[in-house]
Amino acid sequence: MTAELTADDLKAYASTIGGLRPVPVAVTTVHGGRANGLITLSGGPASIIPEAPRLVVSITTYNFSHDLIRDGGVFILHTLSNAAELIETSLEIIRTLGGRTGRDGDKISGLRTRPGVTGAPILLDALTYVEARVIRSLDNEENTFFVGDVVGAGRLNAGGKLDIGAAWTGLGKEWTDAYEHDHEAQIDDSRARRGLPTSHS
Ligand SMILES: Cc1cc2nc3c(=O)[nH]c(=O)nc-3n(C[C@H](O)[C@H](O)[C@H](O)COP(=O)(O)O)c2cc1C
Repeated sequence: MTAELTADDLKAYASTIGGLRPVPVAVTTVHGGRANGLITLSGGPASIIPEAPRLVVSITTYNFSHDLIRDGGVFILHTLSNAAELIETSLEIIRTLGGRTGRDGDKISGLRTRPGVTGAPILLDALTYVEARVIRSLDNEENTFFVGDVVGAGRLNAGGKLDIGAAWTGLGKEWTDAYEHDHEAQIDDSRARRGLPTSHS
């Protein structure tokens, strides 16, 4: 129970995990003909077997993509390019997928895509992509860890991986302030799902 942690504990926790996951990824999915996607820092490998790779992502229960991945069982993880000619496009992908929920309307049709082997949309302006079919999931009340077998992958564009530092700088203070403000609702929803006091209680 987090209430027993001191302010120093929380500070040390923040400095321990800070920077451990430096690369934002765009995750897309599809279910019942509805495609969607979001941005997450939670993407990573989930197997040590080189010829049979697996992926893991942690998706907040509050988010629309969570329900589509849970129900459709597929996702595609994309890295974004930091090449000078693509960085603004990469930032636009983050603004489009990470700035509002697909529950309020389609976010995918404004992006350049083609369907992957999973049927989920591959973002053609991303740097690289990996497609996965979910084999297990772990429901943690506030989020679900989805683990998938890799069923396809490709390189799409030039450049290195856009990291979160460059992304926050490029997105600008106005966008990041609005994001932090909107994010409060999902943090509160997560508190409620774990039986913790919310900012309104
Ligand atoms: C840098 C960054 C990291 C994020 N990390 C996560 C994450 O780990 N898990 C998650 O579910 N959402 C994460 N989000 C938030 C979602 O991308 C955002 O809430 C999105 O609008 C959800 O869209 P959806 O409701 O259409 O799925 C992150 C957003 C940004 C910009």
